[in-house]
Amino acid sequence: MYEIDQDKIHFDKAIYDKGCTKIYPYGAEDEHKVVKRKSCANKNVKEKFENEFTLGGFRDDENIVSIEAYLAKTTEIPKGGYNVYFLMPRMEGNLFELLCRYRQKRQHISLNKLLQYFSDLASGVRSLHLARIAHRNINLFNILFDKQNKLKLSDFSSAVSLDESNEAKEKDYYCKQDIWSLGVVFLEICLLNRLELDPNELENTIEKNLLWAQKMYNETISNLLKGMLAIDPVKRKSAKEILEEIKKIRVTFVP
Ligand SMILES: Nc1ncnc2c1ncn2[C@@H]1O[C@H](COP(=O)(O)OP(=O)(O)OP(=O)(O)O)[C@@H](O)[C@H]1O
Ligand SMILES: [Mg+2]
Repeated sequence: MYEIDQDKIHFDKAIYDKGCTKIYPYGAEDEHKVVKRKSCANKNVKEKFENEFTLGGFRDDENIVSIEAYLAKTTEIPKGGYNVYFLMPRMEGNLFELLCRYRQKRQHISLNKLLQYFSDLASGVRSLHLARIAHRNINLFNILFDKQNKLKLSDFSSAVSLDESNEAKEKDYYCKQDIWSLGVVFLEICLLNRLELDPNELENTIEKNLLWAQKMYNETISNLLKGMLAIDPVKRKSAKEILEEIKKIRVTFVP
């Protein structure tokens, strides 16, 4: 078990600092590690943080940012409270930032690269669902990329263990929710932009943007997304089916 050494946390060089979450570099530069620190005044959230570690820890998967160590410390503030530290591999940034880079360079994502991104993400979700975990917060900011532009799922703060949920229907629904969110992310990757989804205009907005994706890539891509963005969860594909479809598209379109 890896121990977190607080002296190795570079508190003066935060990479991310918003609300109660802060990300700091950890150790020497060539260690390629960061520590995510969450501060909370309420001691009762310890369970929630431990859940994040249990579900996101030690996942030996190339498409998941695994939490390598966990440390909870009572803080010195008058009412007590918690500082929780998660040790993770250092990544280059989140998917939103990666899409911004493409936009700034006025670069289009090639079909080959698009399918690589889709495959990374569908693999990550497939592994989680196989491990009986639903992520429940898949979005551009909770997907990170490494130096090779490989995409990885991160941030298990909303994740749930499906084995602990009683209702079979509920379990299935959580996975279908992940697929919807993944479909939205796929669409955002095609559009190189965030998608604002007004619940009153959901169907129209999805349809309009699927047409855009079709124009930019091809009908097979828009059909793949359609299978994930079905309003009726029962009609949404599973991560396994999506992964298989991506493989087929690759064989057909990529030389
Ligand atoms: N391992 C990492 N390497 C580099 N940057 C990271 C890493 N983990 C997170 N970040 C950056 O910090 C941002 C926030 O991280 P994360 O999503 O884990 O926390 P959060 O959403 O603020 O907190 P919460 O867990 O409460 O939802 C990410 O979008 C990313 O930009
Ligand atoms: Mg997050």
